[in-house]
Amino acid sequence: MKKLVAVLLVLVAAGSLLVGCKKKAPVSSAAFIGIAMPETHVQRWVKDGNALKAEAEKQGYRAEVQWGNADQAQQNQQIQSFLTQGAKVLVVGCINDGVGSVVSEAARDKVAVIAYDRIIPNSADYDYFITFNNYKVGVLQAQSIENGLNLPAATAAAPKQITLFAGSPTDGNAFFFFDGAMSILNPYIEKGVLKVVGPYPKASTDTANFQRIATENWQAPIAKTRMENLLNNDARNVVLDAVLAPNDTLARAIIEACKADAKYRTKLPVVSGQDAEFESAFSIKNGEQYSTVFKDTAKLAEAAILLADQIVKGQTPSIPGAVLASGDLAKIGDTGRKVVKTYLLDPILVTKDNINVPVDAGFYEAAQASQLK
Ligand code: BGC
Repeated sequence: MKKLVAVLLVLVAAGSLLVGCKKKAPVSSAAFIGIAMPETHVQRWVKDGNALKAEAEKQGYRAEVQWGNADQAQQNQQIQSFLTQGAKVLVVGCINDGVGSVVSEAARDKVAVIAYDRIIPNSADYDYFITFNNYKVGVLQAQSIENGLNLPAATAAAPKQITLFAGSPTDGNAFFFFDGAMSILNPYIEKGVLKVVGPYPKASTDTANFQRIATENWQAPIAKTRMENLLNNDARNVVLDAVLAPNDTLARAIIEACKADAKYRTKLPVVSGQDAEFESAFSIKNGEQYSTVFKDTAKLAEAAILLADQIVKGQTPSIPGAVLASGDLAKIGDTGRKVVKTYLLDPILVTKDNINVPVDAGFYEAAQASQLK
């Protein structure tokens, strides 16, 4: 009897082992995608990270997402942990060029790296970048200012006044946003119908002046303080008609500073933005922020995972809805060490007149969408 019980126990144990193996098999055989996002203080990255993970899982991958808190050392640790876990692909929205060392490690381990939304600068260790047409983002921002101020009708006798802000000098996108915007604004400045209050880099290559208008790590408090200083100094004796703001987080900080100044209590300057964040869309609806640029990040996430899937399967990438950057736009994919294959999605300008565009695209939660109707 004792023998029988022992035999039965062994059989049960072996059986449960087998069951255990069976359960684990599909999970461990699914390739792993590590997703590294730069920060959470700009809302879009929370959405991007969650959308990327969900899409990867939908396509049968195992996936994990980590946010780097605008700290490259922290993000590098997160990426290293993805490599230890045997990642096949890394999707990286980096913080600055300090990411290069872990991207080299990935290359050594034959792990494919996709630069997500932001280029990985000064690296020759990866092949793919998926983003929006960032030059066009800047063009759209400035076109909204051009329309908001009716610049074609402005005169040198009564010039319009603008002040310029740029994004983080550690983020390659910030240069394209700015140069796209200045391609529209410079002709008006040269004609004398638009005057720049504060530093005026004609292009991002004017490094000294660009640094003066840049906002380290896209931090709202830095932009707010700079705006307050401008209002109390260079802009003290003028009324600003517009502010070139590179994204919504900074636009709202700039508007907050303006609102505290009696001069702008009844009429705010025309302020641009980017990302179609809910708070900014709401502000646009209420006539405060003037414009934003809608980048459908759900589509970007979907496209990035499709690209990852095609790389894993050894297929030649083909991404519907994105164009492969060529000609002048190939510059967007220049890391400084090589030109990577760059897929561009199209950004859309949003003002009060077409606030329904991001709403109809399902960009907001239902409770938010109803407030934008
Ligand atoms: C992104 C913007 C974002 C900014 C700050 C840029 O790289 O393209 O969408 O607003 O970073 O996070």
